[in-house]
Amino acid sequence: MKIELLLGDALEQLRTIDAESVYTCVTSPPYYNLRDYGVAGQIGAEETPEEYINRLVQVFREVRRVLRQDGTLWLNIGDSYTSGGRKTRDYDKKLPARSMGYRPPTPDGLKPKDLIGIPWMLAFALRSDGWYLRQDIIWNKPNAMPESVKDRCTKSHEYIFLLAKSDRYYFDHAAIKERRISCKNDAVAGSRGAFGPRQTRLRGAGNLQKKYRLTPGGKHLGGNIPYNGESELRSKRDVWTVATRGCKGNHFAVFPEQLIEPCILAGCPEGGAVLDPFMGSGTTGVVAKRLRRNFVGCEISPEYWEMASARIDTTMQEYPQIAIKDLSI
Ligand SMILES: C[S@@+](CC[C@H](N)C(=O)[O-])C[C@H]1O[C@@H](n2cnc3c(N)ncnc32)[C@H](O)[C@@H]1O
Repeated sequence: MKIELLLGDALEQLRTIDAESVYTCVTSPPYYNLRDYGVAGQIGAEETPEEYINRLVQVFREVRRVLRQDGTLWLNIGDSYTSGGRKTRDYDKKLPARSMGYRPPTPDGLKPKDLIGIPWMLAFALRSDGWYLRQDIIWNKPNAMPESVKDRCTKSHEYIFLLAKSDRYYFDHAAIKERRISCKNDAVAGSRGAFGPRQTRLRGAGNLQKKYRLTPGGKHLGGNIPYNGESELRSKRDVWTVATRGCKGNHFAVFPEQLIEPCILAGCPEGGAVLDPFMGSGTTGVVAKRLRRNFVGCEISPEYWEMASARIDTTMQEYPQIAIKDLSI
């Protein structure tokens, strides 16, 4: 198993990696104007969304070079609001990393309070640059951070875009199948009359949890699961409900391992190589190693690079497990 951790700017470090040597890239770049990583050269602190997008397009052009012809990119990205003329963001006791010493001005053409639309700006820019834009996966966060705003809903999702280098690409869809939910037998098992449709659906989910011995979050309780193979599985759906996890050390934008397991299982066979050019605390490397894939990662912050290196070092390799945990109906 080969693990290579590069310290420095993603664009520069990617140039040192062999062309067509990687199956899949699973990554989450710094979001626009959201966190101050406090490192010179960091991405996300650009004056305008266009500068930010251009910088990422260049990085992902280099990612495309290092991907095999049948390679893929799983790109997690969230949105931002305009700063509304504020130049800084105050210290937040619950989340110190949200405090920011700089805030770019409201971009031309937008108003204070506007949602910028960064994920789709980036997706379209990458598509124009030659990527095949294949899918927008919604990461639904059941434990999203509460917000104090009273004039819109609390944000509880982010995007994971699936992009490919060619029109035909490696995608092991069987490796990420999920448990089939039968509306007829399971989901609509309750009575309609007394409870109405919503309660009926919830009762259905309860029955299903009991049947498969699952918690409401979809976790197995053990024991005999009435599971009889392929007929109970279906192709994975494009809304992924995964709870966020706490910080790793001082890092505050950490992938939940369960979120990226399917990306690695579908995007890279055992023994192939996975890339994360913005590896932060190294979660992609941890999951890649556990699933017996090679890994190459880059990180600009020496502190996070150390953290990633320690985490990946102590990760044990295991055989891949198909994660069938999705209970959404
Ligand atoms: C959203 S975080 C990634 C977190 C990661 N997915 C994890 O699970 O820990 C983005 C990371 O990109 C790093 N970064 C920012 N600018 C960079 C650059 N120019 N080159 C490489 N890494 C950079 C930040 O230091 C941060 O750790």
